[in-house]
Amino acid sequence: MLEFTASLPFDRRLAEQDLKGSAAHAAMLAACGIIDAAEAEAITKGLDEIAAELRSGRFPFDSGFEDIHMNIEKRLIEKIGPAGGKLHTARSRNDQAALDLHLYLKEEIRQIERLVRGLQEVFVALARRFEGAVFPGYTHLQRAQPLYFSHHLMAYFWMLQRDRERLRGAFRRADLMPLGAGALAGTGFPIDREMVAQKLEFSRLYENSIDAVSDRDYIVEFLSCAALLMVHLSRLAEEIILWSSAEFGFVELDDAYTTGSSMMPQKKNPDLAELARAKAGRVFGSLFALLTVLKGLPLAYNKDLQEDKEGLFDTVDTIKKLLPLLGEMLLAMEINRGRMAEAVADDSMCATELADYLARRGAPFREAHHIVGAMIAHCRREGLRLKELDAAERRRFHPALGEEIHALLDPRQVVEAKSSRGGTAAAAVAAQLRLAEQLLESDLEIS
Ligand code: ARG
Repeated sequence: MLEFTASLPFDRRLAEQDLKGSAAHAAMLAACGIIDAAEAEAITKGLDEIAAELRSGRFPFDSGFEDIHMNIEKRLIEKIGPAGGKLHTARSRNDQAALDLHLYLKEEIRQIERLVRGLQEVFVALARRFEGAVFPGYTHLQRAQPLYFSHHLMAYFWMLQRDRERLRGAFRRADLMPLGAGALAGTGFPIDREMVAQKLEFSRLYENSIDAVSDRDYIVEFLSCAALLMVHLSRLAEEIILWSSAEFGFVELDDAYTTGSSMMPQKKNPDLAELARAKAGRVFGSLFALLTVLKGLPLAYNKDLQEDKEGLFDTVDTIKKLLPLLGEMLLAMEINRGRMAEAVADDSMCATELADYLARRGAPFREAHHIVGAMIAHCRREGLRLKELDAAERRRFHPALGEEIHALLDPRQVVEAKSSRGGTAAAAVAAQLRLAEQLLESDLEIS
């Protein structure tokens, strides 16, 4: 029974938060005259010694006690005697466990938000490094319109920007102090919750004791932010996998981020990117597991809530390892401008430009679209590029199709024509990069 119901194997990770929360609680109990100053001093000293034991790996974990909270309390009593038993005055493990998780999550969100910012910096650096490389943009995974590769990369910068905004929102909702809720109803001791909140750097208190011990919405919210972040990272990962294949050949990954095959000597497998793609599934799983645990759960605390931890810890670990590795892999990546140029040399990707040209010459766009479509079909049958059609052939499709259309069929010109804000022309990309850099410079850490 104990083995199945214990949380010690995983909540020992909250030891540091538990000690910090207990120290603040003990100080408050003494300040409010609930325990005396000497007792509070003995408790604080005991907690410091336990912290040292934990740091040096000498803490005697006892699996006969269910969780980290009971382990630390038992050790405290061993060390300082009956005064140790006073620490739990006006407190339940329900509000204690909730407090530890809030402390833990706030710090992790802070760190993850910084790591996401680090990856944004990588995208800005790559966009600068690969400036001028023209590359095919895709829809339906069919070549669609030529783009600057930098523009494509910067799409990820903005996804990550929203991920960070979401994390900041999640931080604000995790920044609520639950201690004082007791088991569910509060306490009759004259406690000072504001003092505890201040000591532990919370900006707000839970205003309802039942809510404080029974909801885990702040964890769900973090896991949903994490799930969306993983959606973004998995799309990036998939593109890297495609681009590094022989079929695309647009990028070459550094050997440090690939593996060989034990059988096929030519293989260079993009393992890191593949796992980035797959780990999204694991994070979604944790989000769904917690939503399912909470759904229909009656108030207030139920043992079910102990299931809030493992998926959270796993998600934090996954993301904190993955983000820096992806950044390193991207920085070490080379691009093959030649292969990109070959891919855009297929000038049927400039067809929209040609249709726009006819539309500017007065043809209704629908008709222009049809005419260019017929030209492309003709070229495909004859094995020609659009620019290889001679003047007479061109004019058979439309009299306005003179020599000047050659300029329209140059991929770089096509890219440069998309000069609207947020478009792919060099000037628009430069403006986008300036804005991105300003955002990175001006924004402060979560506090
Ligand atoms: N191990 C528990 C958890 O992680 C701590 C709270 C237990 N409270 C209780 N009344 N059994 O959720």
